[in-house]
Amino acid sequence: MRVVVAGATGRIGSRTVARLRDHGVEAVPVSRRHGVDVITGDGLDEALRGAEVLVDVTDAPARTEGAGLQFFHTATTNLLTAAAAAGVEHHMVLSVVGADWLWSDYFRAKPLKEQIVRNSPVPHSIVRATPFFESIEVMVEKNTLYDRVHVAPVLAQPVSTDDLAVAVAHVAVGLPLFGVLKVAGPEVRRLDDLAGEALTARRDSRVVVPDAQARYVDRPLSQPG
Ligand SMILES: NC(=O)c1ccc[n+]([C@@H]2O[C@H](COP(=O)([O-])OP(=O)(O)OC[C@H]3O[C@@H](n4cnc5c(N)ncnc54)[C@H](OP(=O)(O)O)[C@@H]3O)[C@@H](O)[C@H]2O)c1
Repeated sequence: MRVVVAGATGRIGSRTVARLRDHGVEAVPVSRRHGVDVITGDGLDEALRGAEVLVDVTDAPARTEGAGLQFFHTATTNLLTAAAAAGVEHHMVLSVVGADWLWSDYFRAKPLKEQIVRNSPVPHSIVRATPFFESIEVMVEKNTLYDRVHVAPVLAQPVSTDDLAVAVAHVAVGLPLFGVLKVAGPEVRRLDDLAGEALTARRDSRVVVPDAQARYVDRPLSQPG
């Protein structure tokens, strides 16, 4: 089985390639670093030739207003067009838990991406994941002001990318779900507590300030007003 992984150099993509190889399948890594661009379409047809499965774990590199929508619309359309032409039998995409109710420019792009996938003739599976533990480290860096880290006191159920990659690879080599599978970590925790634990583990002296207005990485967590 030939499985193409778009976004193969990313946090989840690199682990997914490794877990797919555990299944004994031919995992083909795809990203701009491999000479394939899902936005311009460069190299896409060649990469997908002979593929039975396409796993899409790409992410938008830019976080400016509208960049997520533009990226996911174009990338998903290009990937599906190339997949249909190549006779791909299963298209698996990674989305986010809460994509349909979280409010932000970035998260609005996720239901749109899912809709494009559902409307395509290529059989699909959608895996929605909770935030990665690694994203908490990113959030800490983005939300630091002097020696204070502003974090919203909200509940989250983060997942390890190692565990998620096992689930993504498992779904990819199976039959298309024609639906959604949600993957979360084992514990519901307050985000500010998790950020504090991450700092303590690194013997980092910064102090976490619970702040209802704080953003998650670069996305607001709640609807304004
Ligand atoms: N981070 C989280 O907490 C989280 C939680 C749930 C779901 N997700 C979803 O998981 C997916 C992957 O997230 P991640 O954190 O693993 O992303 P990431 O580490 O930023 O990786 C993004 C990947 O996309 C590739 N890419 C970007 N632009 C491209 C282009 N024009 N052409 C080809 N490849 C391109 C990158 O490779 P090159 O730069 O080499 O092209 C890279 O391999 C996203 O859709 C995200 O919404 C993330």
